[in-house]
Amino acid sequence: MNKLSVDQVELKGKRVFIRVDFNVPLEKGWVTDVTRIDAALPTIEYAVKEGARVIVASHLGRPKGKVSPEFSLRQVAPAFSERLGRKVNFVEDCVGDKVKKAVNSLGDGDVLLLENLRFHPEEEKNGEEFARALASLCDVYVNDAFGTAHRAHASTAGITQFVDQSAAGYLLKAEIEYFNRSLSNPERPLAVVIGGAKVSTKLTVLNHLIDKCDIMVIGGAMAFTFLKAMGMEIGGNILEEEMIDNVNGVMEKAKKKGVKLYLPVDFIVAESIDSHEVTDVVTSQELPKGLVAPDIGPASAELFVLALKPARTIIWNGPMGVFENPHFATGTLAVAKAMAKSTALTIIGGGDSVKAVNKAGLSGKMSHISTGGGAFLELLEGKTLPGLSALTDG
Ligand code: 3PG
Repeated sequence: MNKLSVDQVELKGKRVFIRVDFNVPLEKGWVTDVTRIDAALPTIEYAVKEGARVIVASHLGRPKGKVSPEFSLRQVAPAFSERLGRKVNFVEDCVGDKVKKAVNSLGDGDVLLLENLRFHPEEEKNGEEFARALASLCDVYVNDAFGTAHRAHASTAGITQFVDQSAAGYLLKAEIEYFNRSLSNPERPLAVVIGGAKVSTKLTVLNHLIDKCDIMVIGGAMAFTFLKAMGMEIGGNILEEEMIDNVNGVMEKAKKKGVKLYLPVDFIVAESIDSHEVTDVVTSQELPKGLVAPDIGPASAELFVLALKPARTIIWNGPMGVFENPHFATGTLAVAKAMAKSTALTIIGGGDSVKAVNKAGLSGKMSHISTGGGAFLELLEGKTLPGLSALTDG
C-alpha cells in the first residue's frame, strides 16, 4: 500500500486523532458485538505504547446531524475500555472548547473517546469548518475506519487537508492488503461467490469481477433473474425484469473470457420465507408458481462446493438464501463450510455473509473477514475509497 502507515510516524507526546468505525450493534445501551472494537485495538494499543495522546473518534448509526441519546458513543465507552484494558475518558462532543480542554488534559498514553461525529450535520457534508475544527485537535491523523472509508466525510477525508501527516492504521492497512492479494494479484484460480437478493445492487460488482476471476458462483434470489434470462420460469420469486439485458451481458462476458459461471440447478421451495418447513426440492426448471424458493437445493450446494475446490483464492459476498431462517440456511452454510475447509486464501465481506459465517462458528477458519460492508462492496466494484486516497502518500 503506497500510503503512510501509523508506524512510520513519530507519535510520542503527539495528539493523535484516530478515526475508527465503532458503528457497533447495541441492545438496551450495551454493545452486543465487539468485533469492530477489537479490530481497532492494535492501532490504538500501538499509539498508547508509543506515548501518544490518543483521541478516538467514530460515528454510530445515522442520527442525521442531530444529538440523539440512542446514538451516543457514551454507550460504547465501557466496552471499549474493557477491551482495551485501560481507562477511557469520554467527552460529550467532538469539537468545541469542552473537547479542546479534554484533549489538553491528556497525558502521554491516555485515551479519550469523542461523542458521535454525526451529531454534527457537517460531518457527512464534509464541511470545511468542521473538518478544520477536528484537525485543530491533533498533530497527527490516523484513519483505521475501514468500514467508513467509502464515505467522503469530514472525519475521513476533509480533515486530512488540515493535518500535516495522515496515516493508515493497522486495520485499514490489513483490509486493503488482503483485498489486493485476493483481487489485484491473486493466486489462481480465483473464485468469487456472489449472493444476495437483488442483482441490481450487485451488477457493478459482477461486471468488475467477471474481468478478474476464473470461477464465478451466483446464488441468492439474484440468481432468478439469470434463470429467467436463460428462458426458465421462476415461480413466485424475485425478478428484476429491467436487469435481463444486463445479466445477459454478464453471461456473454463470462463465455468470452472463459470464466466458469455456476448458477443454482435446484432449489428448496416453501410457502413463504418465514415458513417453518420446506415444502419440496425442485430443479431450477420446475419452480412452481405459488411457492417461493428461499434457498438453493442440495444439488446446487454440492455443485458449488465442487466448483470452489480448485480455487486458490476465494472471495465471498452475499448469502445463498434466507439464512436467517434456519430452515433455509443450508446452502449458505455449505459455502461457508467449503471455504472453511479450503486451503485457498479466503476473504469474506458484507454484513450478511459475515453474519452467516459467525453464526456457523467458522470465522476462525477464514483467512480474512472484512469489517466493512459498503466499503468492501465498493472495493469489489473497483472503486477508490476516499478515506484511503485522502491519506499522505508513503
Ligand atoms: C457500516 O456499518 O457499514 C459503516 O459503519 C458505515 O455506515 P454508514 O453506511 O451509515 O455510512
